[in-house]
Amino acid sequence: MKHNRILSGIIGLALLAACNSSNPVNDKPSSPVWEKQYSGVWKSTVNNPADFNLLSVSSKKPRVEAIEMLADAPIPVDQNEITAFTKNGRTYLRFPLKKEEQLYGFGLNFKTVRQRGRIMRLHVDHYGGKDDGRTHAPVPFFVSDRGYGVLINAARYIDVYAGTGVRKDSKNQAIPTDRNTNHSWSSRPYSDNLEFIIPEEGVELIMFTGKNMMEVVQRFNLYCGGGFIPPKWGLGFWQRTPTLYSDNDIRKEVEGFENKNFPLDVIGLEPGWHSKAYPCTFEWDKSRYPDPKGFAQEMAQKGINLNLWCNPYLWPDSELDKKMKPYTGSHTVWCGTVPDFTMPKAKTIMQDHLKKHQLDVGVSGFKIDEVDGFDVWVWPDNATFPSGHDGEQMRQTYGTQMMELTDQIYRERNQRSYGLIRAANAGSVSYPYVIYNDYYSHQDFITALINAGFSGLLWTPEVRASNSSEEWVRRMQTVCFSPIAMINAWADGTKPWSFPDVYPACQDVAFLRMQLLPYIYSTFAQYYFEGKPPFRAMELVDGYLVNQQEVKGQLDATANPYAEAVKKEVKDQYMMGDFILVAPLFSMEDEREVVLPQGNWYNFYTGEYVGNGEIVTVKASLDKIPLFVKDGAILPMIPKIRQASEWTNDLPIELRVYGKEDGTFQLYNDDGKTYNYEEGEYTLVDLSVKGGKGTAIKRKGNADYTMKWKFMTK
Ligand code: GAL
Repeated sequence: MKHNRILSGIIGLALLAACNSSNPVNDKPSSPVWEKQYSGVWKSTVNNPADFNLLSVSSKKPRVEAIEMLADAPIPVDQNEITAFTKNGRTYLRFPLKKEEQLYGFGLNFKTVRQRGRIMRLHVDHYGGKDDGRTHAPVPFFVSDRGYGVLINAARYIDVYAGTGVRKDSKNQAIPTDRNTNHSWSSRPYSDNLEFIIPEEGVELIMFTGKNMMEVVQRFNLYCGGGFIPPKWGLGFWQRTPTLYSDNDIRKEVEGFENKNFPLDVIGLEPGWHSKAYPCTFEWDKSRYPDPKGFAQEMAQKGINLNLWCNPYLWPDSELDKKMKPYTGSHTVWCGTVPDFTMPKAKTIMQDHLKKHQLDVGVSGFKIDEVDGFDVWVWPDNATFPSGHDGEQMRQTYGTQMMELTDQIYRERNQRSYGLIRAANAGSVSYPYVIYNDYYSHQDFITALINAGFSGLLWTPEVRASNSSEEWVRRMQTVCFSPIAMINAWADGTKPWSFPDVYPACQDVAFLRMQLLPYIYSTFAQYYFEGKPPFRAMELVDGYLVNQQEVKGQLDATANPYAEAVKKEVKDQYMMGDFILVAPLFSMEDEREVVLPQGNWYNFYTGEYVGNGEIVTVKASLDKIPLFVKDGAILPMIPKIRQASEWTNDLPIELRVYGKEDGTFQLYNDDGKTYNYEEGEYTLVDLSVKGGKGTAIKRKGNADYTMKWKFMTK
């Protein structure tokens, strides 16, 4: 990607710096110039950024028309307070922070939603239990509640000091307090700085603005290519089968789902389908799958889509490895070569192989594993690659490279795919992939689901195993309210009925997801058309005003010697689309607090009023996940189906109306499997309720449905 380089004051200074880094003048910060690109999108180029960056890995282009649909919004910060300088091969950036300002984003964090006060090094890795920047998708994009956000478009490990450093020359001096005598002393005085270090002499910055954080996120998503609409089958239920399963084992598995009457659209094949794994051959194991094509056809007839696990490291002297050798890096992973997919030739070799051996066979998508880390497994940073990109650049973008190359071959066939990936970054937004990992805290999985929405990511809180029936059903409930409803039984062989006492509840929630398909699908249409994340934090909802204070910590000589404040934040409830608030319960809980934004909210199941702009305590039996619906909502639902393919235009649609307010909903539908929707082939019906009466007006398309209104609130 070629960049529009702006030579501002800072850049002049920075260029001087490049000539003589010992000149003290060179590290004097000055303000970058922001050049408007589109409505609410500005770009700034500090010094001389590398051509290779997080967005250049992807062929996706900004969705300009959709961006321009959003009302323009000015830069809400004093641009003089944004500063940058380069020195000794690094770029230093500073953004001002107001006292009450909150920051969100920075990719897939698991423990916190609010990011102010954190220090991170954004580094693609398997999540290790700490929000320190090492995660599957450490996207260098932050959103401020002042109504702006910035993407630091560098494929580098970026250091972030999110409101920790206190500068001597600050205009907003923190007031020293004497710890001896003043009980309000804090180990963290006010910092008005959001600071970054990028290990490169120059960087491209893209700023997004909006009337609220939602618009900032929408612009970021649309700039990175926009969201996407998964194939309909992708929104049905997924079962990943144990390692070394054969075609016959899978036949039995599928039969089990039929007999037990449990939804099933996708079967995931784990290690065992490749003739060799870790690294991989990408050739079918003939003993377990003697006739892959016949098998895939048989599955397709049963409405089952196949998804294949892989890691992209190549088994020595396999067919792929032989062709790929000249295009691989200096180091190996599990003795397998590491293709450099930034080289067109490497990309084509891989694509040709996948087309011939997997897509032609009838495979619907991939689960791309191990593209994140761990350090001791993957290549070190000193690895070299034939394209000239270094180990660090490859680490930050390998997930995106794999998504790009697989996305292209499905698009060539005008066939939608939906898959799983363990690493992503900015630049991954519009690829049909969902992130997962090996970590397994249920609570943290929900926080990850929430955070994903700030950075153009999707996350599945996959279900694997459980210590109790209660935990099992609670996990099953949340996964059904996520981008991919899936059991990943690769190690444990679990099934939806593994805990028979809660099986009816698991069945209920899986069928409820299927009933909600028109709602979920229309929500994904918003992701594509408007860039709105389908699963999102409460902070992105209008009228969400919860007071999230810091609570003074208790002094403790070992656990908390500086009486550090404890953050109280809401990180366990979220929105699915514009209207459904999901408030999961976890094991050992039968009640919880739910923060309701302003406006009336209703119980999804009964239509009863629950509250308005307040914190309510709700109780829920084991068989229900607490769900709340906004006043004026119209939720389109279909009868219970087991597979997405049963969702045809002949199915009657029930339009459930909640509350008393007038409301509208755009019911979206298309063929569910091709990219023709991008060419305008879809049906849109404007649903509205006014004064207690519902109307449906078709705005576009050919499909006709039978619809029935159901007023839930008496
Ligand atoms: C892990 C992955 C699991 C499973 C396993 C198979 O890396 O996270 O979901 O696929 O590999 O070996």
